[in-house]
Amino acid sequence: MTALGKFITFEGGDGSGKSTQVRLLDAALKSAGISCITTREPGGTPQAERIRNLLLQRDSGTFEPMTEALLFFAARREHLTQKIWPEMKKGHWVISDRFADSTRAFQGAAMGLDFETIDKLYDLIAGKFKPDLTFIFDIDPAVGLERSMKHNATSSAVIEKTEDRYERMGVAFQARLRQGFLTIAKSDAQRCVVIDAAQTVDQIHADILRHIEHRLGTVTAKAAHG
Ligand code: TYD
Repeated sequence: MTALGKFITFEGGDGSGKSTQVRLLDAALKSAGISCITTREPGGTPQAERIRNLLLQRDSGTFEPMTEALLFFAARREHLTQKIWPEMKKGHWVISDRFADSTRAFQGAAMGLDFETIDKLYDLIAGKFKPDLTFIFDIDPAVGLERSMKHNATSSAVIEKTEDRYERMGVAFQARLRQGFLTIAKSDAQRCVVIDAAQTVDQIHADILRHIEHRLGTVTAKAAHG
């Protein structure tokens, strides 16, 4: 039987640079001979991407927090059953740009939905399953916001419906978010590593490879030194 692939998630505030690191890790693992795929949340499958559009586009209005959480979990269930679990079963590693800690931090810590409800929903769609390793990108909210505003201004200037609903919620929201992520990291230190996102791209990449080698074993050693 093929061994299960690993599941690695990247989390953090907006503009923390995690998407760049997802791409760098994907390339490093591949060059070390590890089969892996990258994906993202909300989204990752055609049906989950449809739910993403509902959630993130500016012209969709707002949802009541519980409704919003249900939509994120609906997309997540689709993502798990149609992509993450099948890929892992084939022995492939799956790297996801955001996963359930985003719901805990955004809908929970930042928007006030209680953690008990979020845990119940998680249990319903994923049971005891969780990532093997989670990188939480930590950055000063003001810096992160400035970075992601710049990114949105350049990348979606021609797109009418920009995906910036959360960025537009401001620095106080980002500060609650940051505390939320740091609390998650503390409460599940076995799984989570906090990354100082103020470092350079190269420093962060090296940090990530070191943690993967340390936490997930020798299989990635080639990636770390290659
Ligand atoms: P995206 O453009 O992918 O942002 P980022 O580059 O910051 O990951 O948009 C995803 C947005 O959705 C982001 O602001 C975080 C938010 N989100 C939640 O609020 N809850 C969730 O469960 C997930 C997965 C994302």
